[in-house]
Amino acid sequence: MPIVGIDYDKCTNCGTCVRTCPRMLFNEEEEGEKITYDDPNSMCIRCGHCVARCPEDAILFEEMGETYTFKGINNPEEIIGFEEMFKFFQAHRSIRQYKKQKVPKEILQKLFDAMQWAPTGRNMRSESLTIISDKKQLIELSEAIQETLTNDKAWGWLYGERLENLATQFEAPVYFDAPHLIIVSSQLSTVIGIQNIANLITYGRLAAHSLGLGTCWNGWTQVGIELNPKIMKIAGIRAKAFGAFTVGYPDYPVYRTPPRPFKRVKGL
Ligand SMILES: Cc1cc2nc3c(=O)[nH]c(=O)nc-3n(C[C@H](O)[C@H](O)[C@H](O)COP(=O)(O)O)c2cc1C
Repeated sequence: MPIVGIDYDKCTNCGTCVRTCPRMLFNEEEEGEKITYDDPNSMCIRCGHCVARCPEDAILFEEMGETYTFKGINNPEEIIGFEEMFKFFQAHRSIRQYKKQKVPKEILQKLFDAMQWAPTGRNMRSESLTIISDKKQLIELSEAIQETLTNDKAWGWLYGERLENLATQFEAPVYFDAPHLIIVSSQLSTVIGIQNIANLITYGRLAAHSLGLGTCWNGWTQVGIELNPKIMKIAGIRAKAFGAFTVGYPDYPVYRTPPRPFKRVKGL
């Protein structure tokens, strides 16, 4: 059980946990009576909001990780304002040309730390994270994916020639010779499972950009594995759903944002 109870030496019966828990697992039978926690059917989704909101830090928990507090915890806009954030988004580009140098492990670790904070449906933590930094393995993976996509009628028509052209410039054309590939995989192949993967990737990519790294979402890996599950063996993974992105130091500057046709917003 992740939430194991209440520290009654600290609890002031304020009822915040009762109002906070999305699963209504805290109870106050009668006003002023001791609040109790009961989860006989393991309904807790480990969101930890009871822990985050308890003014007295009285919620007892196990195997859920640590909690942190810092300036701006209640006002994230004081940590980063909209104008800065908006420019950060506009400056965020897909990178398809990388320097050869590998990214130090401690920097890569920061990226994985950031990905841990991506929200997932029902707070399921069903994703696995894999990083491939071995050049030979990346080339092997790239070759298998290129072959699979090229031999598929629809994907071959879309990307066969493009990948063939890229192969004249890159040893691992599917990955633009990026030094690292991060794969997020999951046993959950439902729409929510795939959205969870996308969320983790977005957190990872934005974190990478804040560290001076470049990334590119790699749909080819996902499609390649879906068409030919044997490719999983080369990547050393076993799962039902995937997403992947390349990581490295960008090898070119940009001078402006690309033009972007805006999506229509209904109802504003
Ligand atoms: C789900 C998804 C899959 C993508 N797959 C690929 C891919 O396989 N290869 C590639 O070169 N770019 C891929 N991209 C990058 C898009 O082409 C890119 O995001 C788009 O052109 C916009 O450019 P920007 O990211 O620089 O703003 C993918 C992007 C997304 C969101």
